[in-house]
Amino acid sequence: MTMLSGQAAIVTGAGGAIGRATARLLARQGAWVLCADRNADTAARTADAILAAGGHALSVKADITDEAEVAAMVAAAVAAFGALGVLVNNAGGSSRRDVDIASMDAAVWDRTMALNARGTMLCCKHALLQMLAQGAGAIVNISSGAATAGQLSMPAYAASKSAVLALTRAIATQHGREGIRCNAITPGLILHENLAPHYPEAHVRIDAANILSPRQGTVDDIANAVLFLASEMSAFVNGHVLPVDGGLFAHTPTYAQTLELGLDSLSLRN
Ligand SMILES: NC(=O)c1ccc[n+]([C@@H]2O[C@H](COP(=O)([O-])OP(=O)(O)OC[C@H]3O[C@@H](n4cnc5c(N)ncnc54)[C@H](O)[C@@H]3O)[C@@H](O)[C@H]2O)c1
Repeated sequence: MTMLSGQAAIVTGAGGAIGRATARLLARQGAWVLCADRNADTAARTADAILAAGGHALSVKADITDEAEVAAMVAAAVAAFGALGVLVNNAGGSSRRDVDIASMDAAVWDRTMALNARGTMLCCKHALLQMLAQGAGAIVNISSGAATAGQLSMPAYAASKSAVLALTRAIATQHGREGIRCNAITPGLILHENLAPHYPEAHVRIDAANILSPRQGTVDDIANAVLFLASEMSAFVNGHVLPVDGGLFAHTPTYAQTLELGLDSLSLRN
């Protein structure tokens, strides 16, 4: 018995690194997966990989900032699978020009909010219409650790991902009694083939010094958490935010510097 036998799922941004790993895991666990992305080719590649592995999938081009495309995406899933049990709101991203509020180009702010906040809301809205009619459904929103603490860059991204957390709690509160669960994941740094080439080595080292796990996070770490929140294993979990960040936000901000000084420098240990 697999964890999502017979469930119909949509994964947005399924052509990207985390989305692809998530779509493939949900399919391995028995879900019928609609792979959606604004990039039709990468969405199709993910669906093809699922089919090649013996799973059930199809792909659609869907830009989550376009309400008509979002409505068509949900309609395509329902037409193909007959229902919609799971929505994974994974599509999202940031701008290199999202640096500082004092120099913020309002167009960069608007595009970031349109993608991460408004786009996620639109997907929730159209999925909810179907899920409420069914009386059941699980929504998993991919936010970011950037939503949980101040950062030296990407304020628009952080605000948009904070909006995703507020949206998550609002949906759980408004529709929990109608059988809807809505939870969020706040990933830490997940270096993958799309991100690693652009990510400065010095910042990889800073991340490694501040996480509590002895290794970096992977796309599979996020996919596994999505599977848990999408499945009946989390049936009594609603409106929750699950950090999947190797413990980055679990400790005092002085953790890395204290380790560098050495534990013997702590008076209580002497
Ligand atoms: N990688 C990390 O370190 C990290 C950390 C925290 C949060 N996240 C979040 O995880 C999610 C997945 O990111 P990733 O790291 O796999 O990046 P990625 O760039 O590999 O994948 C993002 C996917 O979203 C798609 N997409 C972008 N805009 C879209 C739109 N308007 N409509 C439909 N699809 C669209 C892209 O085409 C791409 O396939 C994002 O929401 C991101 O903000 C990532």
